[in-house]
Amino acid sequence: MSDVMIEARDLTKHYGPVTELKNATFEVNRGEVVGFLGPNGAGKTTTMKILTCFIAPSDGTARVAGADIFEDPIAVREAIGYLPENTPLYSEMLVLEYLEFAGKMRGLSGEALPARIRKVVEETSLGDVIGKSIGELSKGFRQRVGLAQALIHEPPVLILDEPMSGLDPNQASEIRELIREIGRERTIILSTHNLAEVQVTCGRVLIISQGELVADDTPEELAARAGKPRFIATLRRNGHSAAEIRAAFSSIADAGSVAEHDGAGPNELVIEVVPKGSQDLRADIFQAAVSANLVLLGLEQRGENLEDVFRQLTTAGEGVAS
Ligand SMILES: Nc1ncnc2c1ncn2[C@@H]1O[C@H](COP(=O)(O)OP(=O)(O)OP(=O)(O)O)[C@@H](O)[C@H]1O
Ligand SMILES: [Mg+2]
Repeated sequence: MSDVMIEARDLTKHYGPVTELKNATFEVNRGEVVGFLGPNGAGKTTTMKILTCFIAPSDGTARVAGADIFEDPIAVREAIGYLPENTPLYSEMLVLEYLEFAGKMRGLSGEALPARIRKVVEETSLGDVIGKSIGELSKGFRQRVGLAQALIHEPPVLILDEPMSGLDPNQASEIRELIREIGRERTIILSTHNLAEVQVTCGRVLIISQGELVADDTPEELAARAGKPRFIATLRRNGHSAAEIRAAFSSIADAGSVAEHDGAGPNELVIEVVPKGSQDLRADIFQAAVSANLVLLGLEQRGENLEDVFRQLTTAGEGVAS
């Protein structure tokens, strides 16, 4: 089988006269965890519903694990574990009952059913709540149940619509860890509004704005678009002149530009180093300060803000009729 697990070609969706998704074309390879990012109403859920065969595109097509959504929707659904946006869990069912139900829906029976349930319960750490009704669970645990049902048939592809929404930071970080773990052997697309989350969880980001894909990059490449990183070092002069200090940083200056300003205190100097590329110069700055017998009072890195890029990409076309 090819390494392309999800292939979307010119996906377009009209709801009535309005085009909500325009020619979305992208690929996701085996083993990738891709973040799907965009403002409310951008078309993330629409794209995910098309890929999972819940709705048909008005135009274009997609293949999942080699199967076409029009020609072989059953194979597509079999290849996918899906966590919908508002996980429709049956609140009166016990967790175990629900997973049995989800497993049977996926064609599991006999010994395979309890074996798979045991495995997903372990993977999603649901052991302690297996006998509770879903309605009693916290949102984080309900989200785990949603993930467990998505994993029950061992799908190679997972499509997760906002898996971390509404979770407190602790639960979000546990679910994030879980997704990373699951993502080792699977192909995952997850949608989110949380940029920090994308930076730690996803190897690639697709940004969608008003139904159009406006970026397809690694988080690092995207962040680099916001401008180069800059390193700001605050030094105690220790009697050194600005020229001496400049000389101390001349080797770093080769790697970029060095500017200086007076610091907050009378004995302080702030230097700003902009690297030629996007290298991390923090260790070099520290070494240069030590070699010149300068005391490094502070060192920070600025720029590389994914949020800025997101805002630029998703507000640029606003108000422009298309
Ligand atoms: N069944 C529907 N009928 C009409 N319009 C719809 C329908 N479903 C979605 N839309 C519209 O399609 C657009 C894209 O919606 P979609 O749910 O895909 O956005 P989203 O990116 O998932 O947003 P969110 O971040 O709020 O979940 C929106 O303008 C929405 O109003
Ligand atoms: Mg949505």
